[in-house]
Amino acid sequence: MRKYNVAVVGATGAVGEEIFRIFEEIDFPYNKIVPMASERSAGSTIDFDGHALVIKELTETIFDEEEIEIALFSAGGSISAKYAPFAAKAGAVVIDNTSHFRMDADVPLVVPEVNPSEIHEWKTTGIIANPNCSTIQMVQVLKPLDEAFDLLRVDVSTYQATSGGGKEAMAELVTQMQDFFQFKLDESEHKAFPHQIALNVIPQIDVFTENGYTKEEMKMVNETIKILGKKVEVSATCVRVPTLRGHAEALTLTFDADVDAAEAREILAKAPNIIVVDNPALNEYPMPASCVDQNETFVGRIRNDLYRKNVLHLWVVADNLRVGAATNAVRIAQKWVEMQEK
Ligand SMILES: NC(=O)c1ccc[n+]([C@@H]2O[C@H](COP(=O)([O-])OP(=O)(O)OC[C@H]3O[C@@H](n4cnc5c(N)ncnc54)[C@H](OP(=O)(O)O)[C@@H]3O)[C@@H](O)[C@H]2O)c1
Repeated sequence: MRKYNVAVVGATGAVGEEIFRIFEEIDFPYNKIVPMASERSAGSTIDFDGHALVIKELTETIFDEEEIEIALFSAGGSISAKYAPFAAKAGAVVIDNTSHFRMDADVPLVVPEVNPSEIHEWKTTGIIANPNCSTIQMVQVLKPLDEAFDLLRVDVSTYQATSGGGKEAMAELVTQMQDFFQFKLDESEHKAFPHQIALNVIPQIDVFTENGYTKEEMKMVNETIKILGKKVEVSATCVRVPTLRGHAEALTLTFDADVDAAEAREILAKAPNIIVVDNPALNEYPMPASCVDQNETFVGRIRNDLYRKNVLHLWVVADNLRVGAATNAVRIAQKWVEMQEK
């Protein structure tokens, strides 16, 4: 098999670090992996597979200089907007974790368990977009249930960890908890979130749009429709909770056909990269604390609606830094490599 030159842009960030950890765990055909970040981190090193890799500064010419063939971007939307086209021009496939290109009609938006064939469309722009973290774990569950029962509508409430906002956001929760134990939480600053996050929940992720929904909520609406290739109704309420890692979602799904919880449980148990944990008698259900570092999406509390036969309720949890970002990006890269080999 051919080996590829890979760049990880945003290598020092929450998602970038996770990409390196995944590359250590899997057998990916790389010739070299080049960590890239801002000039602040350039020249320092990261440990990878027993070696110290020197971080390179992201520039317009670095992709040509390093002969990069696969570029994984997670350094923020404005960085992708500016530099992804240079990577694509240098001949690399860009797999972008930011929201910048997701709704571009010429850019495929891919979850490999759901719409892998879209990867073939990468050549139009050279860019493949990774969906929002909350969308990825949700559509992995929606797809097999849609095939079985014909999905009409999704009502979702999320419980999203602070790491969704990056490293500084995680640090803000930790600092506020430390301040709480020193009886000075009132004085604690908040920058990453619009309010104190410690001992609180915040029903706002990203800014509000004109229709009263936040940008994060509208991402779940628009990205779900694009990935499923189907005009389902989606209504989302996105909430930030004081956990570090792992997003949870309460889903209410309305189907065209009647749906049976036991049958849905069997379908999900067979679906790729989904693990059903649904044993109320033993108090067993998915939780953020048990999904950390996992590459699967966990589903539980699967139950029929009390009133309507075509409505199902369930609870979905996944590691947002892995399933919601790094794992999905690396899986896209693996599929792309498979396609080059054919
Ligand atoms: N966290 C999640 O769950 C998640 C999920 C899906 C998508 N995403 C998206 O992925 C992106 C990164 O998220 P994150 O959570 O990893 O953020 P983060 O922890 O704040 O890390 C940001 C990374 O971007 C780099 N960076 C910042 N400015 C740069 C510049 N001018 N040039 C080159 N590199 C620069 C930083 O490098 P320095 O160390 O040099 O500053 C750092 O490596 C965001 O767009 C986010 O929306 C995040």
